[in-house]
Amino acid sequence: MPPSKPPPSPRTRYVATRGVQEYRATIPHTVGADDVVLEVGCEWGTTTELIAPHCREVLGIDVSPACIERARQMRPSIRFEAIDAFDMRSILALGREFSKVYVDMSGFSGYASLLDLISLLSMYTHVLAPDTIVVKSQSLKQFARRCVVWGSPATQPKPQRSDAEDSS
Ligand SMILES: C[S@@+](CC[C@H](N)C(=O)[O-])C[C@H]1O[C@@H](n2cnc3c(N)ncnc32)[C@H](O)[C@@H]1O
Repeated sequence: MPPSKPPPSPRTRYVATRGVQEYRATIPHTVGADDVVLEVGCEWGTTTELIAPHCREVLGIDVSPACIERARQMRPSIRFEAIDAFDMRSILALGREFSKVYVDMSGFSGYASLLDLISLLSMYTHVLAPDTIVVKSQSLKQFARRCVVWGSPATQPKPQRSDAEDSS
């Protein structure tokens, strides 16, 4: 039997933000009326509530049951669940096709956690396949700013000046 083709790679865009103001400023530019949004690390749901009027549905998850309890009390119209960001089985059990994911986890902004963050983003990309993941991470933003993809216009060799141009 010929080997089966690998599934096409999902085209998820990552938006790296520094600080909560930038994280929240993305909302009107990123979230649309048809979107189903997941916020990971929602704490008491402050950002989740800001996302809500822009989309079809938003859900917040946090590893802390105490935060989720408080989020439910403060914002009863929004669904919040106590789930760890890496627990894909529980995230899939929410039964939604998330088109946007917002990620704001304490301890995930520094360089020491960059590899963990990238592996989380890869997992969400391949399992949830949202079109955009917005992340609050200063180190990811700094890292991304220095990255250039080989083969992109920025890496094309500059055209050589011809002899004719040299002598003019
Ligand atoms: C800075 S607070 C989030 C603030 C919130 N996003 C907002 O904009 O108001 C970070 C949250 O990440 C949560 N967190 C840390 N590790 C987590 C994990 N592995 N899974 C889910 N949530 C996590 C913490 O419990 C905390 O509530």
